[in-house]
Amino acid sequence: MEALKNFGKCPIIFLAVFALLASTLLSLANAKVHEHEFVIQATPVKRLCNTHSAITVNGQLPGPTLEVNNGDTLIVKVINKARYNVTIHWHGVRQIRTGWSDGPEFVTQCPIRPGDSYTYRFTIQGQEGTLWWHAHSSWLRATVYGALIIRPREGQGYPFPKPKRETPIILAEWWDANPIDVLRQAQQTGAAPNISDAYTINGQPGDLYKCSTKETTIVPIDSGETNLLRVINAGLNQPLFFSVANHKLIVVGADASYLKPFTTSVIMLGPGQTTDVLITGDQPPSRYYMAARAYQSAQNAPFDNTTTTAILDYKSAPCPAKGTLAPKPLMPLLPAYNDTNTVTAFSRSFRSPRRVDAPAEIDENLFFTIGLGLNNCPPNFSKNQCQGPNGTRFTASMNNVSFVLPNSISILQAHHLGVPGVFTTDFPVQPPVKFDYTGNVSRSLWQPVAGTKVAKIRYGSRVQIVLQDTSIVTPENHPIHLHGYDFYIVAEGFGNFDPKKDSSKFNLVDPPMRNTVAVPVNGWAVIRFVADNPGAWIMHCHLDVHIGWGLATVLLVDNGEGLLESIEPPPEDLPLC
Ligand code: C2O
Repeated sequence: MEALKNFGKCPIIFLAVFALLASTLLSLANAKVHEHEFVIQATPVKRLCNTHSAITVNGQLPGPTLEVNNGDTLIVKVINKARYNVTIHWHGVRQIRTGWSDGPEFVTQCPIRPGDSYTYRFTIQGQEGTLWWHAHSSWLRATVYGALIIRPREGQGYPFPKPKRETPIILAEWWDANPIDVLRQAQQTGAAPNISDAYTINGQPGDLYKCSTKETTIVPIDSGETNLLRVINAGLNQPLFFSVANHKLIVVGADASYLKPFTTSVIMLGPGQTTDVLITGDQPPSRYYMAARAYQSAQNAPFDNTTTTAILDYKSAPCPAKGTLAPKPLMPLLPAYNDTNTVTAFSRSFRSPRRVDAPAEIDENLFFTIGLGLNNCPPNFSKNQCQGPNGTRFTASMNNVSFVLPNSISILQAHHLGVPGVFTTDFPVQPPVKFDYTGNVSRSLWQPVAGTKVAKIRYGSRVQIVLQDTSIVTPENHPIHLHGYDFYIVAEGFGNFDPKKDSSKFNLVDPPMRNTVAVPVNGWAVIRFVADNPGAWIMHCHLDVHIGWGLATVLLVDNGEGLLESIEPPPEDLPLC
């Protein structure tokens, strides 16, 4: 009563509080629950003149697009009718307190065995834009992937003029083979896996490949209207440039966080990353190619040098005269495959739309080297098993630890149940040996140690991680993805990170927020976040070839205080190994 009386004295404050409460309640009431069924199954898929039995979701490639609003809950029952183990990861979804639904196999769950099922349940909290989902088991995500579109809460709008259309543009890689066999062969030989045979846009390679013209992806637009392209790099191993002939792209978001809009003619996405761009039909009505091809920063490494296309098609384009063919669409100019300058200019344009609360002080200061390695041929191995450079086997590591997944229980389950012997908590949070990371590294540092080592992080701590590329074997732009969190990228640069010199350049005012950072080749990136989500969160290079070699670790964030700072109990149907 007393409080109400006081409110009576300040009608404006009262009204404001009331309006805020009402709108929160309204949007909570509007939050929806979306139920889906994902059937994992072998499906005949024809690409590049051949038909393969590909693992798909519900027979679709790409799989179903999920469309939700911020605040909604997703319940997805995954039924495994394929002959492989599978899990699904909701890439970029924070999974606050619901780490059991994150998906990476042997990290947060045992895989779903053939014939079994598991239901993922999670709520989108405070994220808007484009995310995606993919298998997180072996190389199944080559064909098991799809878009996850998160619109603003009901009644709220975009921070940019509402586009007339929205189109997901999912870039991916296609092997004219079974990707699981490609991986197996590489594991046997110790060499790099075969490169892909095509890139695809929404599942289709496009006009520049054999037997692919008829099914080319068509993206509609009309004169004067704007289309929001939600571009996703679902490729397994290749960072990609993307561009549209004669059209400017206005970048408005990435990884389900908004950005200060900026205009560019080309974007680059590492695998795992998403970028939302607006495109306006301001060119003569016709047909224009949109195209993607490799950004390749590793040296002396073979890569898929093909180009995938889709067609931006003006609805008002004049029909070709009778008996003539439609004119060939215009092709965009894409950067050279090794054009790191374009990548740098692009990533340095990223800003949050407004001032953000990036942690200014930090409690945990971590420094992770990321890079490849070569193991000498073990004595009991044959020559055929050591077909890496000079009779070695490829490997990769973070801080000289080559990550090995457990195989009898997941890390999160083992942590929750107190099962010993599954992992150790001695992941070095600083490089065990300091060296000139981007220089000519002594061969004695090329062989990491293997282990299931995790780093413990105290709940609520403000964390900084310096990600430092090494030039071991080759420097390379690594897309580093952290599960369970979005982070601010406060700086990036080339050479060795120098805390004295480089800390002064940190952007703590409006740094971009992401879930995957493309760490510059021969360089470094610094990320910051608050560890406010308990769970076992894998951090890994999103080039699948590097995950298999061990370029990963797990951040184990303990519960905080009370229920709201603790992970929920494990679901009853959580798979057992
Ligand atoms: Cu998109 Cu651990 O993955």
